Amino acid sequence: MTEEQERVQPSGVWATAVGVAKVRARESERADALFRDPLAQAFATAGGRGPSSSPPPDDEADRRRRAGLALSIVIRTKFLDDLLRQATASGVRQVVLLGAGMDSRAFRMDWPEGTRLFEVDTAEPLDFKASVLRRERAVARCERITVAVDLREDWPSALAEAGHDPTEPTVWIAEGLLIYLPEDAVELLLARIGAQSAAGSRMGLTLGSRGVIERFGVDAAPGSAVSMWVSEMPDDPVSWLAGHGWEAGSHTLRECAAAYGRPMTSPPQRAEGPGGLISALRP
Ligand SMILES: C[S@@+](CC[C@H](N)C(=O)[O-])C[C@H]1O[C@@H](n2cnc3c(N)ncnc32)[C@H](O)[C@@H]1O
Repeated sequence: MTEEQERVQPSGVWATAVGVAKVRARESERADALFRDPLAQAFATAGGRGPSSSPPPDDEADRRRRAGLALSIVIRTKFLDDLLRQATASGVRQVVLLGAGMDSRAFRMDWPEGTRLFEVDTAEPLDFKASVLRRERAVARCERITVAVDLREDWPSALAEAGHDPTEPTVWIAEGLLIYLPEDAVELLLARIGAQSAAGSRMGLTLGSRGVIERFGVDAAPGSAVSMWVSEMPDDPVSWLAGHGWEAGSHTLRECAAAYGRPMTSPPQRAEGPGGLISALRP
């Protein structure tokens, strides 16, 4: 059997990472792309989400919903790219991508000398990703370390064993992740991140906005990403994060989309998109 035939196929929650790659591949083709992800198409195709994999939606509401979700992924990607650049400019040299999925930032962004980037996810997506990266002969632009662990388990120990140093600042990214974790797991994750964060650490989060599960989930297909959403942002994310020791700023997708020249054209409430964007500093 070839490596391609042997490659595990996406299923369950990690299949969502391949859907995200598909959106990034489409964005990368635009003349005015907010980022270019040269590996996204390979991940999408290997995971069965190539250019002709899904028929166009036949109803207008579905089309609008999909377009809103895709735009939200594009906007959050750009937001977190910028946050990572700011973090490294401030001297941070440890990057942890929690629920890294098919994130290719290690390969597509410029990193200062000495940057160590940890990708944390479960074993299956990391194995799938590794096989695509091998085939593409992708070369990371920083030191890249993968950590296969379930984030509901003792991931700080696994991260420490992989070489993460909690006495040095870290920039943490949880992109498209928290919405898949129940609230108690989100609380525990935040507490653990805090315990591993030296002063000067940064954090970028995406949060499901209030009401999004009801709004998008009403007729979600079984097995779809939306059908697996379980948690939304707290009413006051800034205070919530202050309670976890962070000075946070909260931005709506809509305001970031406008700032990036991609305004959301639909009326508010309808396509607010599935999240809020958080940037935070550990004083
Ligand atoms: C929507 S994808 C986002 C991937 C990536 N952050 C990005 O934006 O490209 C969600 C990712 O979270 C990971 N994930 C969800 N629950 C997890 C858990 N309990 N432990 C580890 N990873 C998890 C999934 O495997 C998947 O790769």
